[in-house]
Amino acid sequence: MSAAVRYYSRSGKTKAVAEAIASAAGVPAVSVDSADSAIKEPVDVLFIGGALYAYGIDGHLRDYLGTLKKGDAKKAVVFSTSWISKHAIDLIKKGLENAGIPVESEFFYLKSGQVDGKLQEAKAFAGKYL
Ligand SMILES: Cc1cc2nc3c(=O)[nH]c(=O)nc-3n(C[C@H](O)[C@H](O)[C@H](O)COP(=O)(O)O)c2cc1C
Repeated sequence: MSAAVRYYSRSGKTKAVAEAIASAAGVPAVSVDSADSAIKEPVDVLFIGGALYAYGIDGHLRDYLGTLKKGDAKKAVVFSTSWISKHAIDLIKKGLENAGIPVESEFFYLKSGQVDGKLQEAKAFAGKYL
């Protein structure tokens, strides 16, 4: 099962979740604004996450979602952190669906304040799709 992990994180919370998922998957967690963020080889599962800022997702992540193509991944699994709202999940899912990438209905979400204590849960969640 091949996997890739992509994320955008302004202050490190979603990055910590991405890194926990990536450690379970045995692949690097790659920020969408890094030079090597493109999906070069199609993967079975793309884990992709970002946080909510003023009820939207960061423009870097929005733009990245716009670059994804059907066939980059057989399936995407979404993760997010925020203070309280899970709306980023919906926005990321919509971007993936627009790209033609099927999205797993289950997602992984943590409130910002819970992240440090719950990274094992992120790993276990990822394990279900590996
Ligand atoms: C400018 C700003 C706006 C935010 N807006 C929201 C919001 O509308 N709803 C919410 O639940 N959290 C909001 N948050 C909280 C972030 O989603 C949360 O801190 C998240 O864990 C940050 O993830 P990151 O460290 O990966 O950037 C906001 C944070 C900032 C800095």
